Amino acid sequence: MIEPDLKEVVDLAGELGYELSREDAANRFDQLRAHRDYAFFVAVRDGEVVGWIQVNRDADSLLLGSRGDVAALVVDQRFRSSGIGKLLLERAEAWALEQGLRVLRVRSSVRREAAHRFYLREGYALLKTGHTFQKILVP
Ligand SMILES: CC(C)(COP(=O)(O)OP(=O)(O)OC[C@H]1O[C@@H](n2cnc3c(N)ncnc32)[C@H](O)[C@@H]1OP(=O)(O)O)[C@@H](O)C(=O)NCCC(=O)NCCS
Repeated sequence: MIEPDLKEVVDLAGELGYELSREDAANRFDQLRAHRDYAFFVAVRDGEVVGWIQVNRDADSLLLGSRGDVAALVVDQRFRSSGIGKLLLERAEAWALEQGLRVLRVRSSVRREAAHRFYLREGYALLKTGHTFQKILVP
């Protein structure tokens, strides 16, 4: 991915509610690109990035085995409801199958009701709801 694309990716991350600096995005992207357990796909329309998805291979779990995880999915609000999200999700599913994964999971905030309709329509079943806890570790 070339530098101007990354700016568009960062702008779309803002639509997801994540404010990233270009520098952080560039560093993280380099790390992802070097690792075969992560994949990142973009949707391009007229030379412009209008959507992206990141899909990961989850660390193998004793309880659940191997799974894929949709880490993020966003489509430019100007181009939603035209099938771009579906195409991106299908691409992520194809990647997961190539990795030998048989389950793909997505965690989505309870406030993203439109996204939930989208996932249900795409064949995802609601598994459970829960809370996510986080602690900032200070060395
Ligand atoms: C969720 C999201 C990624 C879906 O992307 P999208 O490109 O709008 O998805 P699609 O176009 O494939 O499907 C969405 C709608 O378009 C309709 N649609 C699908 N294909 C279509 C087509 N070819 N032509 C017209 N409409 C179509 C669907 O019926 C669907 O309608 P609904 O929203 O009433 O259920 C997008 O809405 C988004 O970025 N939301 C904000 C970020 C977010 O919540 N991300 C998910 C985080 S978990």
